[in-house]
Amino acid sequence: MRPLVAHIDLDALRHNYQLACRCAPQSRSVAVIKADAYGHGALACANALEAEVPAFAVACIEEALSLREGGIKAPIILLEGIFTADELALVDHHGLWISVHSHWQVEALLAYAPQRPIPVWLKVDSGMHRLGFSPQEAPAVWQRLHSAPQVTALHLMSHFANADAQDASYFEHQMGVLQALSATLKAPLCLANSPATLARPAAHGDWNRPGIMLYGSDPLEVASELTRQLRPVMTLRSEIIALRELAVGEPVGYSGRWKAPRPSKIAVVAAGYGDGYDRHAVDGTPVLVNGQRCPIAGKVSMDMLTVDVTEVPDAAIGSEVVLWGRATQGSVLSVDEVARHCDTISYTLLTGVLPRAPRQYHGANV
Ligand SMILES: Cc1ncc(COP(=O)(O)O)c(C=O)c1O
Repeated sequence: MRPLVAHIDLDALRHNYQLACRCAPQSRSVAVIKADAYGHGALACANALEAEVPAFAVACIEEALSLREGGIKAPIILLEGIFTADELALVDHHGLWISVHSHWQVEALLAYAPQRPIPVWLKVDSGMHRLGFSPQEAPAVWQRLHSAPQVTALHLMSHFANADAQDASYFEHQMGVLQALSATLKAPLCLANSPATLARPAAHGDWNRPGIMLYGSDPLEVASELTRQLRPVMTLRSEIIALRELAVGEPVGYSGRWKAPRPSKIAVVAAGYGDGYDRHAVDGTPVLVNGQRCPIAGKVSMDMLTVDVTEVPDAAIGSEVVLWGRATQGSVLSVDEVARHCDTISYTLLTGVLPRAPRQYHGANV
């Protein structure tokens, strides 16, 4: 079998979720498991967390229905609400919660007669300028929903544009907008994503919505005591499938981007952009070979990548190569560090791992 596997450590997932709860002991924390739990497998992650999580969050009804089909009974909130009015029957039938961010959604909801009232989170645009009602129109919408028999457990929800940044000025601007609104409406709040859960206690509401931190990625611009406690959940692991010796000046891979600066030993690893490993990885992007950091040398191919293992005397065919996560020897390569070498963020690397790299689950409930 091809050796590339995405190992998912469900104990680490639970550890990270518990850390999110400890950061905000007055809040209930929704576990955000949209986009197939950021590439980790939504059903397996939901099963591992269901006993301790008050609700899950997904992007859309398809994601919620596959969790229900898999036996998940906990509340599930649709972060983008319904995409068409006819989804309300399914929302009602499956006991889902919805966010409402647009007037057409309000009209659809108020024209619908559910079997039981639907929990609704009213989304306000406090400065992200993506989804939500403006702070000026939100109070009128709030009042309509508040008095509607279709609606229960009405909350105010908003999303931060840069809660991760050291400079808190825009976060404070958004908080100012939200505090003014919640003072007028006496609304329970759901605001905090991972960075705000970790670093912005002022944003902790009745509910928080941590996502990426559950998977062990550090969302803050500058790491903190708390983020150092996060554990990687996914380890993308493969093996060396071939080795070659190169003389000074000999190139490796497409377009010969990397040329041996000294007599070099190059390992060919079974992982490539056809598995979701980012082709933008520059020369020097780290991997762990037998637990030891080594640099990628040459462009990533579809099924393979090449690593300079000159400094690893025991590198051999079959040696373990960790693209990110924890090596068998215990050393850790963070997905955040790999992302920086690819000029991207951990979110895209994790959600980008394709089904071609099978998930193998370890720990809780397996
Ligand atoms: C509306 C909303 N809430 C919460 C989250 C979780 O954010 P994070 O993964 O940064 O914790 C997201 C993620 O994109 C989101 O879109």
